[in-house]
Amino acid sequence: VLLGIDIGTSSIKSMIMDPLGSVLGFSQVEYNIEIPHTGYAEQHPYVWWDLVCRTIEEAMKQANVSGNNIAGVGLSGQMHGLVALDKDANVLHPAIIWCDQRSIRQKEWLETQFSQEQLGRLIQNSVATGFQLSSLQWLKEHKMDIYNKISKVISPKDYIRFRLTGVIEGDSTDASGTSFYHVAAKHWSEQLLAQIGIDISLFPAIGEPWEVSGEVNAKASLETKLKKGTPVAYGGGDQAMQAIGNGIIHPGLVSCTLGTGGQLLTPLTKPIYDPKLRTHTFVHAVPDRWYLMGASMSAGLSLKWLATKILKKQDYHELDEMASKVNPGSDGILFLPYLAGDRTPHMDPSAKAMFFGLTLQHQDAHLIRAVLEGVAFSLRDSLEIFKELGVETKKLILSGGGAKSKLWNQIITDILGQDAYSSMMQEQACVGAALVAGVAANIYESVEHACTKVVKICETPITPNDQNKDIYSHYYALYRKLYEHNKDLFP
Ligand code: XUL
Repeated sequence: VLLGIDIGTSSIKSMIMDPLGSVLGFSQVEYNIEIPHTGYAEQHPYVWWDLVCRTIEEAMKQANVSGNNIAGVGLSGQMHGLVALDKDANVLHPAIIWCDQRSIRQKEWLETQFSQEQLGRLIQNSVATGFQLSSLQWLKEHKMDIYNKISKVISPKDYIRFRLTGVIEGDSTDASGTSFYHVAAKHWSEQLLAQIGIDISLFPAIGEPWEVSGEVNAKASLETKLKKGTPVAYGGGDQAMQAIGNGIIHPGLVSCTLGTGGQLLTPLTKPIYDPKLRTHTFVHAVPDRWYLMGASMSAGLSLKWLATKILKKQDYHELDEMASKVNPGSDGILFLPYLAGDRTPHMDPSAKAMFFGLTLQHQDAHLIRAVLEGVAFSLRDSLEIFKELGVETKKLILSGGGAKSKLWNQIITDILGQDAYSSMMQEQACVGAALVAGVAANIYESVEHACTKVVKICETPITPNDQNKDIYSHYYALYRKLYEHNKDLFP
């Protein structure tokens, strides 16, 4: 059997899967994002490691297997975050994770150092808050004592790989999300780093997600009950792992994920990027493939915010019920889902969320529906850019926690205006991690082979309702104007 581990933003998950994709054991432990100051977002790598050990043990117990039965381990992880290690591999600072926004000034400064055209040429991507480069520059400016002690900077899941194997390395899918990796040529951008005076030796050697990076060592074997010598694959960023866990490896397939954040992602055979850098172009977990991705910062998070903080409700079925009674278009309310700033399309960490169009007639159910629609409009922004770049978007596949809502799926389908298919897979990031583990352990010939063995997508599409499609086209045009008309007002 195979073990896939996902270092998520809100939980650690470990899954034991057989080579045909049956889940034999699954364990998940949730934790918080630490917010010591407004805009900060941190987690401690030692907490990740503790919970990795706990969830592995629990998943093995559930699956009724021992370490001897596990042929390979694979890792998936939240992207972009910064883990700083000293020369003895001690963690120097809590991980500064992807949704951290302390580095707005550093991002702006980086944008004065490189034109959009240069960034396109050097890294094929924009710079963003919460990505390693901006966070590292922040450490350099604000915590010089720590910065001076850094021996290696790695991504979140790389820390877990280090604890399992002792090897400090990275992989190409997560390297893509740092803002200093030449994604097209697959190497660190020496030129970019030299220009801002960051030493390239701070960054690790890079492997491919499906390759063996090392083996479980004696210490990790004691802590996790895995067998010493078990191969550990490099693994990858959660977007790439989740995509392969849904079989999204060929152009034309589009993954639409409603998780904490929302993403639209499609595989590419060439590293095409948006010259305006509104989307990301990152290396995929398949040989000679990249992917294009539009990212909404707050998808499920917007609904969770409304439900728990504003309406004080916990039951998502009830929210669905309420929203389903409201007309498409929420009787004139629009929601701009920029509760944590925006990436695609505006790349503006200072953007703010808003409800627009409230009247005395509106009730809580309208707000719920407006949130579902606002997130879908934000994903439509990504789809429009894909089309503008001439990228095929033939088959949409829905996944993530939000895709459990039939209503939200229908709204997404109506607003994106094309058929969508539900994924029949669960916890796809863990599945993706287990698939690369299987390739590393020689159980599958390739990631593509692994996908054909394991992945199942529902064959009946959800189809757009023509009448709703028209209503939403009207509201989408208004939605587009909301940011444009308000962007200078955001503090
Ligand atoms: C992707 C992104 C998030 C993180 C956390 O660009 O920021 O999806 O990977 O899951």
